[in-house]
Amino acid sequence: MPMARFVSFVLTTLLFASISLTAATADSSLALSTSKWIWNSATAIPNALLALRKDFTPPLGKALIGAEIVITGDDIYELYVNGDYVGSSTPVTRPRFAQRFCVDLLPSFNVFAVNASTTGSGADSGGLLATILLTYTDGSTDTLVTDSSWRAKSGLPLGWETLAFDDTAWPVATVVGSYGVAPWDNVLVNIPADPPVLSFERAVWIWTDVVPASGILPAGSRAFRRSFPLGLNQTPSTATILISADNEYTLYANGVTIGSGSNFKIAQRYTVNFKSAPTELVFAVIVTNTAASTAGLLVSMEVNMVPTGRTNCTAGGLLLTDAGWKSTKGSIPIRFEQPGFDDSAWPAVVQQVSYPAAPWAH
Ligand SMILES: *[C@@H]1O[C@H](CO)[C@@H](O)[C@H](O)[C@H]1NC(C)=O
Ligand SMILES: *[C@@H]1O[C@H](CO)[C@@H](O)[C@H](O)[C@H]1NC(C)=O
Repeated sequence: MPMARFVSFVLTTLLFASISLTAATADSSLALSTSKWIWNSATAIPNALLALRKDFTPPLGKALIGAEIVITGDDIYELYVNGDYVGSSTPVTRPRFAQRFCVDLLPSFNVFAVNASTTGSGADSGGLLATILLTYTDGSTDTLVTDSSWRAKSGLPLGWETLAFDDTAWPVATVVGSYGVAPWDNVLVNIPADPPVLSFERAVWIWTDVVPASGILPAGSRAFRRSFPLGLNQTPSTATILISADNEYTLYANGVTIGSGSNFKIAQRYTVNFKSAPTELVFAVIVTNTAASTAGLLVSMEVNMVPTGRTNCTAGGLLLTDAGWKSTKGSIPIRFEQPGFDDSAWPAVVQQVSYPAAPWAH
């Protein structure tokens, strides 16, 4: 039936014990480990927009083709290259989620520009962390990292992101920390890779907005949703999903049933191929607690995008179960699994414990 036109999937089942817990940084050329967290000061003004720029001219005799960009920010950012919008952070980004973008470059002068801000109310640390792999026409490469050679200016002067804008009067960026330093020290930056390297590390068991101290939840079914905002040049090609639930689940991707499971000790792995070009990505799950007992949902997934640049590049983003998911504990609305369903009134989920903690330790 029409379903198959939009999504197809393959399924493999694997035991928890066989899941690799190594960090998902398969492509060493794009590691973030030598990049610095930068901002305009050690303490960020909440919700105040900051513009950050890196101008780059290649060495004499070299011409650029494209760039592969791995980027993450605390809390939110939008990325522009030569004035064109490339993509943005997922909402409530946490610094362990890096996105990977592929862009074409001009032969000589190029500008990488980011507007970013922290969210919330109190003074906080803001940070932007990025690595940019540049490819030249002769096949050679160069790497740019966020560091004190970037410029940072509070507020957004008109045309701040464009090629023609003169940023020479802007202050240089403040290095607020090396990769791995507090307050980002206990985070792991997962980078989309080909093939995807997925694990449950750092994923959180979630449930609806009320979990008693005992952890014992009433029997019944709950609906969960997570939408993934797509950047202008982001067209999803595949999603690789690792999922487990206590006790039973049914998973949907963009409204299509993908699979189900009924044993939290056995995770399932699905690869979903998007055959049309969706403008929205929605993952939805019904989880049933079969008797009054503990209940939870654990998901880790990577969405890969159709490459847009001329260089060999894997674009994509990662999503784990976290506070960005929404859930309802009322009756399950019809079409809740469909793109376009309005979940704005649904509360954020409760984060219980991180994998592999009790009561789901194995
Ligand atoms: C970031 O800059 C762009 C381009 O100037 C602007 O359109 C956009 O609104 C800015 N983002 C925010 C959150 O203000
Ligand atoms: C792209 O890069 C991967 C890994 O570096 C390599 O295996 C693959 O052959 C490359 N593809 C093309 C079209 O160059």
